[in-house]
Amino acid sequence: MQVSHNVPAADRYARCVQVSRRVSWDIDDDVIRGREFDYSHKFLPDGLSLVHELDFLQPDEQRFLSQIQGRTYANIFGLVERYINAKVLELSQRHWLGDQVALEALIRFSEEEMKHQELFRRIERMTAEGMPDGYRVVADPNDVARVVLSKSTWSVLGLTCHIELFTQQHYKQSIKPCADLSELYKDVFLYHWREESQHAILDELEWRAEDARLTDIERDEAVDDLIALVGAVDSILKVQSEADTDYFLAHANRAFTPAEEARLRDGMLKAYRWQYIVSGVQDPRFVGILADLVNDRQMARITAALAPLM
Ligand SMILES: [Fe+2]
Ligand SMILES: [Fe+2]
Repeated sequence: MQVSHNVPAADRYARCVQVSRRVSWDIDDDVIRGREFDYSHKFLPDGLSLVHELDFLQPDEQRFLSQIQGRTYANIFGLVERYINAKVLELSQRHWLGDQVALEALIRFSEEEMKHQELFRRIERMTAEGMPDGYRVVADPNDVARVVLSKSTWSVLGLTCHIELFTQQHYKQSIKPCADLSELYKDVFLYHWREESQHAILDELEWRAEDARLTDIERDEAVDDLIALVGAVDSILKVQSEADTDYFLAHANRAFTPAEEARLRDGMLKAYRWQYIVSGVQDPRFVGILADLVNDRQMARITAALAPLM
């Protein structure tokens, strides 16, 4: 579902409710259906994991690395959904005594993120059984949420819009067209994408509404907050990519040269930055919304802050 600027906001909330009702799914009955992950297949496609760039790895090593990254990919969504849900509940207050359709859209959004977190916890438990011991998620969802929610609503909505747009882009452009992924893993992100499509529209509506409330000075400060939030995401990615590389090395069953190990560490961080920052900030819909909200000087500040990550 694409956003059209010609459609009034009230109609867009109504359409989100309508689609949300139609695509709604159940974790067991629709997504998992009694299945297990198939470890003879990759989890994340090469277009996201970038494991094909690590050409000194054997095919089974590339596959294992894609499964580690895929496990982290599910965990990172579970992580960010904690703060997203808290922010959505907070924003819903603005509609309590107003547009009841908008209120329902945000309630459904919140309920879906609760369900997604449960789904991603299930996936973590399943992959913990299917993969060797020693894997860990470095960041705590509540700690992350406290940091994110301490920033201005404008910046939190900007980060969220970015995340929910790259979720869709990843599914449509990389996961869906890839023929040799674990079927269950692929389905998890098919069903997730179906509900995320509405979230991205609601993020945009709320972000634009929040933007209209701000003074120029407040918006200028919010741009700094957004830059700080992207920096906070990058800090998590640095630690998680190190932890995931250590986990890979501990279970790779062979030694790598120092040069290969360095390429592995660089490749993991590059892949994580690509997945969680770069692919999203290049998304045409995200760029279009951001360009509507900020002035040229603010856009230049954001671009300069992102340059070292690209
Ligand atoms: Fe979600
Ligand atoms: Fe979402």
